[in-house]
Amino acid sequence: MTSPILTVNNLKTYYRTRLKEHVYAVDGVSFELEKGKTLGIAGESGCGKSTLALSLMGFYFAPLHFGGGSIMIDGTDIMKLNQEQLRKQVLGREIAYIPQAAMNALNPTLKIIRFIEDIMKEHRPELKRESVRKMAEERFHTLGLPPKVLDSFPSELSGGMKQRTVIAISTILNPKVLIADEPTSALDVTSQKAVIRLMKHLLEKGYIESLVFITHELPLLYHVTDDIMIMYAGEIVERGTAEEMIFNPVHPYTKKLMGSIIVPEAGMKEHKLTAIPGTPPNLKKVPVGCRFAPRCEYAHEECLQGKINIREEEDRVYRCIIDSHTLKEWYKNE
Ligand SMILES: Nc1ncnc2c1ncn2[C@@H]1O[C@H](COP(=O)(O)OP(=O)(O)O)[C@@H](O)[C@H]1O
Ligand SMILES: [Mg+2]
Repeated sequence: MTSPILTVNNLKTYYRTRLKEHVYAVDGVSFELEKGKTLGIAGESGCGKSTLALSLMGFYFAPLHFGGGSIMIDGTDIMKLNQEQLRKQVLGREIAYIPQAAMNALNPTLKIIRFIEDIMKEHRPELKRESVRKMAEERFHTLGLPPKVLDSFPSELSGGMKQRTVIAISTILNPKVLIADEPTSALDVTSQKAVIRLMKHLLEKGYIESLVFITHELPLLYHVTDDIMIMYAGEIVERGTAEEMIFNPVHPYTKKLMGSIIVPEAGMKEHKLTAIPGTPPNLKKVPVGCRFAPRCEYAHEECLQGKINIREEEDRVYRCIIDSHTLKEWYKNE
């Protein structure tokens, strides 16, 4: 068994609002990502996916606060590093993070090559400008991006090209882990497929070792990730192999999410999540017991009594007081 590249243990992070209220967006999350593996994270909007991704970087700026737990990247506890160490040793090198809507945040006054030059100035100051240029051209070429993109301004690129460019820039230092938050959202089907192809390329060429791919569009994950983890109301509710999660879900929330998915084709827009009646709970005041219970058709009184622990079975973890065997029997009869 390979050792994990990323180990997250009971991570808690929260927002403190101007009214001094706390929003418990990541509430005791634990998981491991093994070297060479890809993990998809899905769940409805507002469940804490983006906050988790951001929290994994170890940078906390108000209103986001660290509430406890640990984050180990390749054996290093990053919460023990200061900001300078994090920026110099970890970000971009060990772990790269592409925030949701990053492609719209590129400084519009800079040509693409400048973003790469800036990264190299910080991390590889010994490299001459021409070498950086050559390296960037080679990298773009290998990833199927026309090298002329390097001389373009962000506004001159299409949405899909801009997203692929952001991914190429973010991975220029060959980080061990890439965390991409909704990299395919807001793109047309063709561009979505190109982004997926690019991620596979990065893995195949060894430019990245492992990938965490966050999306609310589940079918995409089937084609890219080994495992899928579902988040609900700041917690992990289920994790398993992509195949098992899609075709054989255990947790009633996962089951609902997978609801209308027929065998998916990467990037097929028409297989979006079906709406689940109701909404996720307010994370300022999380309910006692199962957080999904108010929307769960199988819930009974016991579900609302106390904390629901994660159950571990062979290749699956899930957070439900009803066991997987019983749940699957119920599903069979539907
Ligand atoms: N800056 C913020 N201040 C306060 N609450 C926030 C802030 N950003 C996000 N939240 C809240 O944190 C929760 C998780 O949000 P987010 O991580 O963006 O979820 P997701 O990415 O799954 O859609 C939501 O309840 C959201 O309203
Ligand atoms: Mg998000």
